[in-house]
Amino acid sequence: MSGGMRPTDDAAGVDGEGGGDRGERGGRGDRDHDGAGRLAGRLVALGITGSIAAYKAVELLRLLQSEGADVAVIMTQSATRFVAPLTLEALSRHAVESDVLALMPDGRIGHIALADAADAIVVAPATAHWLGMMANGIAGDVVTATCLASAAPVVVAPAMDGEMYGHPATRANVARLRDAFGYAIVDPELGSLASGQTGVGRLASLPSIVDAVVAAVGDRPVRSPDPATRPSPVPAAREADLAGRRIVVTAGGTAEPIDPVRFIGNRSSGKMGVAIAEAALDRGAAVTLIVGLASAPLPSRATVVHAESAAAMRTAVLEALGGHGTGAGSDALVMAAAVADFRPVLVADTKLSRGGPLTLELAPTTDILAEVARVTRGRDAAGGEAGPPLEPPPVLVGFAAETGSLARAPEKLRAKGIDLLVANDVAEAGSGFGTETNRVTVYARDGEPEAWPLLSKREVADRLLDRIAARLDERDRTRETPPSTRIRQETPS
Ligand code: CTP
Repeated sequence: MSGGMRPTDDAAGVDGEGGGDRGERGGRGDRDHDGAGRLAGRLVALGITGSIAAYKAVELLRLLQSEGADVAVIMTQSATRFVAPLTLEALSRHAVESDVLALMPDGRIGHIALADAADAIVVAPATAHWLGMMANGIAGDVVTATCLASAAPVVVAPAMDGEMYGHPATRANVARLRDAFGYAIVDPELGSLASGQTGVGRLASLPSIVDAVVAAVGDRPVRSPDPATRPSPVPAAREADLAGRRIVVTAGGTAEPIDPVRFIGNRSSGKMGVAIAEAALDRGAAVTLIVGLASAPLPSRATVVHAESAAAMRTAVLEALGGHGTGAGSDALVMAAAVADFRPVLVADTKLSRGGPLTLELAPTTDILAEVARVTRGRDAAGGEAGPPLEPPPVLVGFAAETGSLARAPEKLRAKGIDLLVANDVAEAGSGFGTETNRVTVYARDGEPEAWPLLSKREVADRLLDRIAARLDERDRTRETPPSTRIRQETPS
């Protein structure tokens, strides 16, 4: 996207168009999607501009989907006044782009990602104003910018007042799009218009627009089969499946003091832990968020406990889990914090001054997760007795930031005695400290590892909470079974 651009309002180009919904049903595009539609596996960018016919774009979206297309919507600012982006977002399951300067949650420029990945762009309805902007390459709105940035075939379906469509300026712009740019034009039809007049300006029938998209795509190879390169889907809404649950999440890095001003720290931003806390809150959980050093904004709905050092975090975690006689109890602990493995043995009371070389002696910190596992399970990693277990036992989840290989992850899971370990390679692009995305593999105490694709941290959080919620439900089902029944089941007769 070129610099100095700003979104412009194409309201000046709001064109009259109206009439009924004639001719839009019963075409080939109206059949139910059975996975074998003519656009199966294709990503189609649907560009909507500010015409009264914009409402028909909702039905066009459904028809494209019924042909198997994954549809992402881009809108001019004025189009958002005719049809609500929320409607299109809910139906397309993609964020709707209407701001040319907006970034996606993962930091990518939305319309550029779409321009690169789309198999076709269809602009329907296209106003006289938009045709003029496009014919002159003026990328002031997200629809024009996407077309300019894309090598995908473009289909344009104009809709406006008849006089406007007949004006030499509009004719010239349409001719330019068709002849110079190679865009497919789906001509508007004769009919009654929003102005009350009759003329050529009604948006073409929706099946004919779908047919034009199918023809434009032809048998070209799918441009972006990898979902990770497409605009990310809006995560499916989760129900309040964690209502009544208490979840403790740690986030950020710890700071191990050297002197009053210096510390040993790490690059953790806290984003992953905060995403988990937010997702858990959205799903109805009561969340205690224990944070070390974190740059990510913290959710106000959580009970936030600041604990900068590994020692302070250990105390805070044990307290939040009810291990210190609070009796509050917690259902799950997710240790997303990057806890220091070592701390300086001696902490200077006053600032160390520059002199000769300095040697720091470091001692290992307590492994908080391993200790929690011991305390709550009443067993150490080797299976030995370690006091009475916590009832009911919380689900314990660790994170492992590795570099280069995840080979150590299964052993880490076992050694810490936890239920789930989320491992990622922080050296991989888009997956690590400070990024908006993560590509993780989830190891379970009692199941096969699952490698997830590159996802937003929020989606990783929700998928992880799906696993935690399922474990808690399973735990409670087992506990609801009367003890006598359980004994009978366990004792062979
Ligand atoms: N962790 C912890 N207490 C520590 C260190 C780590 O509870 N003192 C937790 C982290 O929050 C994370 C998990 O343990 O959930 C794994 O941390 P990681 O540093 O990857 O593992 P370590 O066991 O420290 O192994 P190593 O440093 O050898 O990679």
